[in-house]
Amino acid sequence: MTMPMLYPRPDVAEGLKAAMRHVASSVTVITAGRGAARRGITATAFTSVTMEPPTVLVCINRGGAAHEAITRAGHFCVNVLCEDATDVAASFAGMTGKTGADQFEGFEWVETASGAPAYAYAQAAISCSVAACHVAGSHSIFIGQVEEVAIDPDRTPLLHFNRGFHRLGARR
Ligand SMILES: Cc1cc2nc3c(=O)[nH]c(=O)nc-3n(C[C@H](O)[C@H](O)[C@H](O)COP(=O)(O)O)c2cc1C
Repeated sequence: MTMPMLYPRPDVAEGLKAAMRHVASSVTVITAGRGAARRGITATAFTSVTMEPPTVLVCINRGGAAHEAITRAGHFCVNVLCEDATDVAASFAGMTGKTGADQFEGFEWVETASGAPAYAYAQAAISCSVAACHVAGSHSIFIGQVEEVAIDPDRTPLLHFNRGFHRLGARR
């Protein structure tokens, strides 16, 4: 290959991490559970899967509290964050020192059709019931059947790129 950095097979995990750092993504918080049992996690591993039926997927670390909450509740909500929600992203990425239900404190939430909490000022909140779960190494791929969607089309997304949060640039 002619690109400036090449990671041969023994270093391929490092190479993948470096490559993924340079993928610009929307930032979501995946939530599940109710009241004191609610949990959340900042995640970029989110995509739609099909429209027939309407399904999405999220990849969640099996070792964390959010994984247990999604498994127990059988639901999750994908909260797509807007550009001024870096504090929400930081809270659910474990950057503030808060854990568990305390990570929801200071932010406004509404209960969705599935029962999962939706962030009141999200760009989009996609409420799902768990349709399937596939183990993939350290993570589970949760497939969600979409039950309810709320969007605010006037908001612009929070992006993650190269270990930092960014705003969307001007349209080209
Ligand atoms: C920008 C960003 C994206 C992330 N994406 C994911 C993801 O898609 N899936 C995941 O399991 N963890 C992801 N993480 C890591 C979790 O947010 C983090 O490990 C978790 O909040 C730590 O929670 P814990 O201390 O309860 O394990 C991401 C972190 C950041 C900062």
